[in-house]
Amino acid sequence: MAGTETVLLYNFNDPQKLRNMKMVFLKMGIRMRTVTPDMYMEPVGALARLKGYELSHIPYEGSGFDDEMMVMNGFSSARLDELLRQLRRNKVPKIPLKAVVTAHNAAWTSLELHSELTKEHQMMTHGPIMDAVIYKGNGTFALEKRKIPTIQQPTDAIVKVTLTSICTSDLHIKHGHVPKAVPGIVVGHEIVGEIVQLGNCVSGLSVGDRVAVNVETFCGECFFCQRGFVNNCTNENGGWALGCRIDGGQAQYVRVPLAQNGLTKIPDSVTDEQAIFTGDILSTGYWGAKISEIKPDDIIVVIGAGPTGICAMKCAALYHPAHIIAVDIDQRRLDLIKNEHIADVTINSQSQSVKQAILEITDGRGADVVIEAAGGKNTFQMAWEIARPNAIVTVIALYDEDQVLPLPQMYGKNLTFKTGGVDACNCREILDLIADGRLDTTCLITHRFDLKDAMAAYDLFESHRDGVMKVVLKP
Ligand SMILES: NC(=O)c1ccc[n+]([C@@H]2O[C@H](COP(=O)([O-])OP(=O)(O)OC[C@H]3O[C@@H](n4cnc5c(N)ncnc54)[C@H](O)[C@@H]3O)[C@@H](O)[C@H]2O)c1
Ligand SMILES: [Zn+2]
Ligand SMILES: [Zn+2]
Repeated sequence: MAGTETVLLYNFNDPQKLRNMKMVFLKMGIRMRTVTPDMYMEPVGALARLKGYELSHIPYEGSGFDDEMMVMNGFSSARLDELLRQLRRNKVPKIPLKAVVTAHNAAWTSLELHSELTKEHQMMTHGPIMDAVIYKGNGTFALEKRKIPTIQQPTDAIVKVTLTSICTSDLHIKHGHVPKAVPGIVVGHEIVGEIVQLGNCVSGLSVGDRVAVNVETFCGECFFCQRGFVNNCTNENGGWALGCRIDGGQAQYVRVPLAQNGLTKIPDSVTDEQAIFTGDILSTGYWGAKISEIKPDDIIVVIGAGPTGICAMKCAALYHPAHIIAVDIDQRRLDLIKNEHIADVTINSQSQSVKQAILEITDGRGADVVIEAAGGKNTFQMAWEIARPNAIVTVIALYDEDQVLPLPQMYGKNLTFKTGGVDACNCREILDLIADGRLDTTCLITHRFDLKDAMAAYDLFESHRDGVMKVVLKP
């Protein structure tokens, strides 16, 4: 049984309230230590339960969202009632007594629990306590210590990152090709993790849920969201904000705004590595294939056998086209595609004429659908040149330079061009396909690093050494 010490965990920022409460405890002769978790009351509860403490919840009227406290001790209910009465009398009525933790495991004293919780909370809430990859501007990233993020809006969630990865777009930020990227932010937008705190306006999700984080933040209510065009959501954080305009997930924790739309529960049977690409490149591949209006018997060409191109091939395959043809200049990537049976035909555009090869395969017509996922100097031109008349050409690549659309040359070809940034609102469908075994992108993960070695991971990813395709980071 715990001794007479009381551990008070408080979660409110009003120093006057704390002083009032300390007075009450003092007057009642309760020895008190305070731990200041600021937040994360739920994990504290979970930890306490794990350590063999019993939580008895006390209903409390008007429980404020960020005004919570928890008392841990072997309190009798009479003593607790008295405490509540005293607290109210001393004008601290808004503080809910969230729970009383009764020590019933003889091996644990409240002191031990206290030190355990303090350690945990030191890690979670105090000072510069998490590692994060920071965009420093001027072409540099650095691993620095950052404060754990906290809920800022009732629509936010805090996610404990269990796996994150490096995306080509992170390199675009690093090299200053993303004008809206804000120096000083934590980068990273491919994230899976566990919810550790939820704002009180988020429904359908719970603390403890394993979730995939969407690269895009969207409100679900504006003109564009209602039409599924979430990339153009008009909310201030709408579109690609995480790891670009606001802190992202190459860290131990991330704050996700508009969490109800931005987080999707991961089925139990799906691992973090299976789910990691859901919110970004898999969403892009899924969206790219969807807007390409693929029909059975179509011949599809995907230019670019990078992670995004491969996701597009895998999602195109869901429509059962006659053939998927992969084009790249990197033979190792084409070999991977061949070995993993991701495409039926691979073409190395450095050693072969792509146009010639496509015309041969398609009886001189050209491809029914071309998805351009390379973003190379000549790949936009290649895309429309290898397309058959009336084909759909979908451009998901991002170019560093302007591209030329020589309409006189393609006159009469009657092409449909589709372009843009992903409308990433199909994460549920994607995770269900993964759970059903119909979509698997784990072969993209070629390297695994600890988050603390993120700089070495970036070095490898950027250099294209060792056949690197995707690098995941474990916080
Ligand atoms: N539209 C979106 O929302 C969205 C989302 C994610 C990524 N992207 C973009 O998709 C593109 C691909 O992303 P990724 O992560 O796969 O990048 P990546 O750089 O790993 O892959 C690009 C591939 O294209 C190949 N390539 C380059 N030049 C070529 C050429 N001239 N001919 C043939 N192949 C060539 C490269 O060898 C590489 O394998 C990038 O431009 C990225 O910014 C767009
Ligand atoms: Zn990305
Ligand atoms: Zn919106």
